[in-house]
Amino acid sequence: MTFMESCVMDEIKHYPVMYREARELLRIEEARVIVDCTLGLGGHACCFLEAAKNLSLYVGIDKDEESLSMAGERLKSFSQKLRLVKSDFSHLDEALKNSGVNEADAIFFDLGISAYQLTKNERGFSFLQEGPLDMRMDRDSFVSAYDLVNNLSEEELTSVFFKFGEEHYSRRIARSIVEARSREPISTTIQLARLVGAVVPVRSFKYRIHPATRIFQALRIAVNRELESLDAGVQKGISLLAKGGRIGVISFHSLEDRIVKQTFKESASRGIIKVITKKPVEPQDKEIEENTPSRSAKLRVGEKI
Ligand SMILES: C[S@@+](CC[C@H](N)C(=O)[O-])C[C@H]1O[C@@H](n2cnc3c(N)ncnc32)[C@H](O)[C@@H]1O
Repeated sequence: MTFMESCVMDEIKHYPVMYREARELLRIEEARVIVDCTLGLGGHACCFLEAAKNLSLYVGIDKDEESLSMAGERLKSFSQKLRLVKSDFSHLDEALKNSGVNEADAIFFDLGISAYQLTKNERGFSFLQEGPLDMRMDRDSFVSAYDLVNNLSEEELTSVFFKFGEEHYSRRIARSIVEARSREPISTTIQLARLVGAVVPVRSFKYRIHPATRIFQALRIAVNRELESLDAGVQKGISLLAKGGRIGVISFHSLEDRIVKQTFKESASRGIIKVITKKPVEPQDKEIEENTPSRSAKLRVGEKI
């Protein structure tokens, strides 16, 4: 098995989504400075580091300390060119400055959480496994899903579920949470998932997804302030690209994709970038077959003019 194969199919079965497409479109082979804003366990990094023939620096950012240290271990044969930064990617400018560079040739985002984070019960991201209601990517941050679920008002919960989960039954679910927590705090993932399942009418179970999917997505976005970070991160990414450099973002739901599309469009209308992907690139059927979570992925790429 080659090094790259071992990266693609590691023991926790985390597949780097559309890594071939991202590698080609970001012209990784020629890039000297690469910034990976969502290093995760270093799946894409493995592929990119192996392909980058002219590399002088690879900055890997993640706000999850545990992932960062596992990626560091996995990528240790590249440690001379690798700089690991624990930070939110909305502070991308500082990460680059502290790494001694002003601009990058390729800037990459693979949004959301990794399979590793999802399957760790104690992180509380999955509604299928019992765990604390946590959902913080950065475990040093102060607000967890528990805090939101047990302290936001019915109105605020409704708004979180509607805005970040586009959930049709937001108000009903919020009301039921407020009622349940008046008896005892809601403290686990399964408790919350059951409560949502009991509120959503049976007929809507016909949806392909579990009724708690959108509620967990909404809470995760709110806990980690994901959309604010994305907006700032992509804008900073564009401004830090070298002329001819490329930025690529893989998003997994419409709220993320909308921000990327809009930010690219605005920068293009101001003559700052040209959009390389007129339509977002999506995974091929074979990839979706091998890795179901990739089915909703969309890759958009822009080039600095
Ligand atoms: C989908 S995973 C990336 C997987 C990675 N590309 C790989 O192949 O191993 C997303 C990662 O980005 C991190 N992340 C998400 N939002 C972030 C943000 N705003 N700032 C820094 N890291 C973030 C998460 O902690 C997670 O480790």
